[in-house]
Amino acid sequence: MEQLIINGPSKLKGTVKISGAKNAALPIIAASLLFRQDVTLTNVPDIKDVRALLGILDSLGAETTFKKNVLKISAGKIQEVDPDPELVKRLRASILTLAPLLVRNKKVFIPHPGGCLIGSRPMDVHLSALKRMGAEIISDSNGYQLEADKLMPSHICAEFSVTGTENVIMAAVLTEGETTISLAASEPHVQDLCNFLITAGAKIEGVGTHNLTITGVDKLKKISYQIIPDQIESGTFAIAAIATKGEVLVDGFVTAHQESLLSKFDHIGVNYEVISPTKLQIRPTHNLKNFKIRTEIYPGFPTDLQAPMSILATQSDGSSEIYETIFEGRLGYISELSKMGASCVTRDAHQASITGPTPLFGARITSFDLRAGATLIIAALIAQGESRLDQIEIIDRGYENIEHKFKLLGANIRRVALREIE
Ligand code: EPU
Repeated sequence: MEQLIINGPSKLKGTVKISGAKNAALPIIAASLLFRQDVTLTNVPDIKDVRALLGILDSLGAETTFKKNVLKISAGKIQEVDPDPELVKRLRASILTLAPLLVRNKKVFIPHPGGCLIGSRPMDVHLSALKRMGAEIISDSNGYQLEADKLMPSHICAEFSVTGTENVIMAAVLTEGETTISLAASEPHVQDLCNFLITAGAKIEGVGTHNLTITGVDKLKKISYQIIPDQIESGTFAIAAIATKGEVLVDGFVTAHQESLLSKFDHIGVNYEVISPTKLQIRPTHNLKNFKIRTEIYPGFPTDLQAPMSILATQSDGSSEIYETIFEGRLGYISELSKMGASCVTRDAHQASITGPTPLFGARITSFDLRAGATLIIAALIAQGESRLDQIEIIDRGYENIEHKFKLLGANIRRVALREIE
């Protein structure tokens, strides 16, 4: 068990290099199971979720090497076995192996996903889509067994589910005929999966829209592909820079992916400059205006940036409203902010209001989920005194070397093993 010790306040200064996108890397790695030839991926974030997914691929007999953010996957000889249910249960994103393994092995077993810290995580969209494409599904107390000798093209409504859309795309690219998807999720990471597959020879039309048409091809060819920068990590560092009244160049901030965030920055009065399509300069901003956010599917405001925005709410003038529409368990961090002196009211599982500006003070706090963890680091950076952040393993699932990046920007932050201090 490890803890982050952060001494605030800090003013962040310098340049931060954003890593490859977690939520693009995971489906693209899963999609590599569709290839008989080698896949080379660059800009892959070295994070726990990626390592966990590679553990699943290795257990299936794929050969993988991962060094300095370059990942080579050779899935030509994977065996017709189910992934270890224990490995699968550890990682929600393992659901992304559902379609590729069904296509590749003609059968796959997936344990019941259950709920998780951010809310219920059903998979009805994934299952009903694959059923429509011809899979037989047998459910028992352990999970679902899916079987299909050959999938059939179909029309699928993906209900804007991100991983649901990704599973249908992966099911369709090698399925003879035309599969259409309506209400497809169009997040940058869904687009990146499509672009990866298109580069390998897949036929997908409508990328970036909510309607996709996929015409099956015989095979996918050997490919080298660079993962896009992480939309959420870049937004998080931009928010951290604003919260600390710092001066930070965010290198890997893809402005085309961040319209809703930049529009909020405009409303709040943030002093920023778009330096290039992938670089954002944050300059010291005083007097932030209060705001409202309502999380939406892309291109609306991303649920994964909802928690970090709350820190700006604590420093803005007046009452800000947060409405989390996607998940029902994503306001847990509010109790931790209150411990640090923030003035917050949680109305229900989806809505909270935060009144500012209030000074924050160091406290012992816990990260309940990945995005809450990053949020509490920012809170500790602007707080007076020492904060100790527990359960940081959750943060390592999605951010590469986060404390190192903050340290390079001048933060006083260190990671300790708990036995060192207790
Ligand atoms: N939903 C259903 N049925 C389904 C699937 C989803 O009702 O079969 C509901 C969910 O309960 C939720 C909503 O639809 O209320 C959206 O869920 P979605 O399926 O879009 O989420 P996901 O694919 O499981 C991905 C990201 C999440 C991100 C969400 C929303 C990956 C690996 N995960 O999850 O990322 O919050 O989309 O954008 O891409 C994170 O990175 O911290 C994270 C949680």
